[in-house]
Amino acid sequence: MKAIGFKEHLPIEKANSLIEFELPKSIAKGHDLLVKVAAVSVNPVDVGVRKGGHGLLKTPKIIGWDAVGTVDSIGDQVSLFEKGDHVFYAGSFKRAGSDSQYQLVDERIVGHAPKKLALAQTAAMPLTSLTAWEALFEQLEINPNKQEGNRKATILIINGAGGVGSIATQLAHWAGLQVIATASRPETISWVLDHGADQVVNHRKDLVQEVHKLGHRYVDYILELNDLDGHWNEMAELIKPSGRIASITENKKPINLRKLTQKRAKFAWEWMYSKSFYGTPDMISQHQILDQIAQLLDQGVIKSTLNRALSPINVANLKQAHQLVESNHMIGKVVIADKE
Ligand SMILES: NC(=O)c1ccc[n+]([C@@H]2O[C@H](COP(=O)([O-])OP(=O)(O)OC[C@H]3O[C@@H](n4cnc5c(N)ncnc54)[C@H](OP(=O)(O)O)[C@@H]3O)[C@@H](O)[C@H]2O)c1
Repeated sequence: MKAIGFKEHLPIEKANSLIEFELPKSIAKGHDLLVKVAAVSVNPVDVGVRKGGHGLLKTPKIIGWDAVGTVDSIGDQVSLFEKGDHVFYAGSFKRAGSDSQYQLVDERIVGHAPKKLALAQTAAMPLTSLTAWEALFEQLEINPNKQEGNRKATILIINGAGGVGSIATQLAHWAGLQVIATASRPETISWVLDHGADQVVNHRKDLVQEVHKLGHRYVDYILELNDLDGHWNEMAELIKPSGRIASITENKKPINLRKLTQKRAKFAWEWMYSKSFYGTPDMISQHQILDQIAQLLDQGVIKSTLNRALSPINVANLKQAHQLVESNHMIGKVVIADKE
């Protein structure tokens, strides 16, 4: 089978930053599905893994954590899927990624693909939907089944137009919350308003003043999706007493948790890979989340966050997608798909 990966941690414009190579087709065992991949997306984690290291790897590393495809064969313990099923998933941080003709993935972190979406629209969704869902409904502990009860609650979503923000705003809106999203340009402002935000503030300005100008002294929840260091003090100021903050980005310097003491506010991390990385007993919840996301997409309750589709899956198109994500100005998602 063909795959795309890297042996050296090079800037994307270098010839060998991503390379195509051949390897034997994998065999599905246990809970694994072998999936024939039809479309993939690129996330900031791809850029981080590709750039973040030194030296020459012995064998090429295959990255890519978003795929849609068809189940080609199944392991002897598989119970959730059959050969021929259309599936979508983000995959595991410990295993070979989706930039490959075939990929092994544990059925417990795979969902049935939505039926009404094109391949590229579907491939845009898994990693960011899992992240947004877990952050909102597990780490911030918002109850998605209490839409009426949530109506008075406000959430500030920092980086509303990026990959995760574009689905987090929709899910928070669906859960009944008043959604304040941050965006800094005319095109991102109209994007977030079109993806579930009720109000917009600018993350390039002082967020405390921006939110106060809207008439909110505090917000009940904050979801931080870009630059934890840069926004920490603003979040500590804006969070309501007993409010909750979650972040999906890493701090580069120590964060001062003491700032939350008097408000007795809670802080939680979200890492989409945690469940599969540690093989937690609730790992199968990612299968359930993805199935629910597929249903919401098919019902038109939420929509795909696809913004840019490239075709076919090859080195040149993957490089272009990496370049777009590296810009830190992405709006929605970029996907590389084979022809339908
Ligand atoms: N923990 C996890 O499980 C997990 C999962 C997914 C992603 N992540 C991480 O979360 C981050 C976001 O991922 P993503 O895919 O949503 O990113 P993305 O799509 O690349 O985000 C791009 C957006 O970031 C905005 N932005 C740039 N600087 C900002 C700032 N200082 N404050 C607020 N927004 C800013 C840009 O808006 P403007 O151009 O308008 O400024 C742009 O629209 C990345 O660091 C990624 O590695 C973590």
